[in-house]
Amino acid sequence: MRMYDLINQKKRGNALSPEEIRFMVEGYTKGAIPDYQMSAMMMAICFQGMNEEETLALTLSMRDSGEVLDLSRIDGIKADKHSTGGVGDKTSLVLAPMVAALGIPVAKMSGRGLGHTGGTIDKLECFPGFTTGLSREQFYQNVNQVKMAIMGQTAELAPADKKLYALRDVTATVDQLSLIASSIMSKKLASGADAIVLDVKTGSGAFMKTENDAFALAREMVQIGKNAGKKISAVVTDMDQPLGNAVGNSLEVKEAVLSLNGLGPADFMEVVYALGTEMVLAAGKADDPLEAEAMLKETIRKKTALDKFAEFVEAQGGEKRFVYQPELLPAAGIQLQVMNTEHGFVGGIQAEEIGLANLILGGGRTAKDSVIDLSVGILLHKKRGDALMPGEILATVYAADMEQAKEAYGKIVRAYRIQPDRPETVPMIKGIIR
Ligand code: URA
Repeated sequence: MRMYDLINQKKRGNALSPEEIRFMVEGYTKGAIPDYQMSAMMMAICFQGMNEEETLALTLSMRDSGEVLDLSRIDGIKADKHSTGGVGDKTSLVLAPMVAALGIPVAKMSGRGLGHTGGTIDKLECFPGFTTGLSREQFYQNVNQVKMAIMGQTAELAPADKKLYALRDVTATVDQLSLIASSIMSKKLASGADAIVLDVKTGSGAFMKTENDAFALAREMVQIGKNAGKKISAVVTDMDQPLGNAVGNSLEVKEAVLSLNGLGPADFMEVVYALGTEMVLAAGKADDPLEAEAMLKETIRKKTALDKFAEFVEAQGGEKRFVYQPELLPAAGIQLQVMNTEHGFVGGIQAEEIGLANLILGGGRTAKDSVIDLSVGILLHKKRGDALMPGEILATVYAADMEQAKEAYGKIVRAYRIQPDRPETVPMIKGIIR
């Protein structure tokens, strides 16, 4: 087999066989196929696309390029959830303990924030001592005992995707649906859960800006999961404004703790319940969505999810008293209020701009090894649909530096779209693909 012939074949619009795809992925991972040939192949795929069989073969080859976790030593149906990323997305911090409190084992791999989007691991590191660098043994043990563990994505997991993603990033070949779907799913399949729930975000703060693209990606990932023998569903959710009110690591952890105490923002909780319902159904703990949602609500009412979160934080080395006293979490010294000057309604809030404001404050990464300030961020007091009077506070900026606070202030003002009439209600849940 020669890579030259495979490129030619794809260029002419002919499908590649699973054997040819495996040859290409294995060769590229071990360095036998050079970047320039793989770049040509990625571009050919961008123009010609891939069919279902090719997409599955690419996903499985990337999954098998490294370690595939074996969770068979953990009892029950192991559930995982993945978000395509957004602003203010602290969903896992609330969802995982709710589901675990129902006895469903949650074995989750999470990442760090990059660019304007946040990451679960950074948020959890607000708890002094907390670590996601668990050994495999510890991870299995925690899921068995606590019913919930979160591990950082390791270099051994789907190394082919890592190499390929870096190549796509610099050859303008990221935005091809089958390539995105196989990239995400190779990592999910390698992390070994039986049931996968995907949160595919759409809107100004999301990777998929349009609903059409989000649904297409959701369908493609669900198909891959099914073909790989997993229980899988995808919920397409709104990311046209930040989720909830808090953006920034420590502020988001505080909001997650508030939510576990029954005081979560409505938009955020709607997404949490929709995803949680899918996880409970996949685990076979309820027969219908209404029953699943009622069970999840009970974990908030009885505070079993809050206690589960504290147990999880402690099991991974963190101080659990911070869960019960979130005022102990890091808080930035400067607080600057963003004032409204107009009459009207909030028509929208550009989520990406708010994420970038957090980046200016030092709360996000511009490079993989950037050191971030966990204490900074933005608290939004007005969201889409809220009525406004001049002199009201739109948001509070939490900063460590006045110059950065002022720059973020300007960005936040520009992110708000204020209009004379109340906008139509936008549904948080756009649809579910099962
Ligand atoms: N996230 C991934 O992991 N891969 C992609 O290709 C795009 C987003």
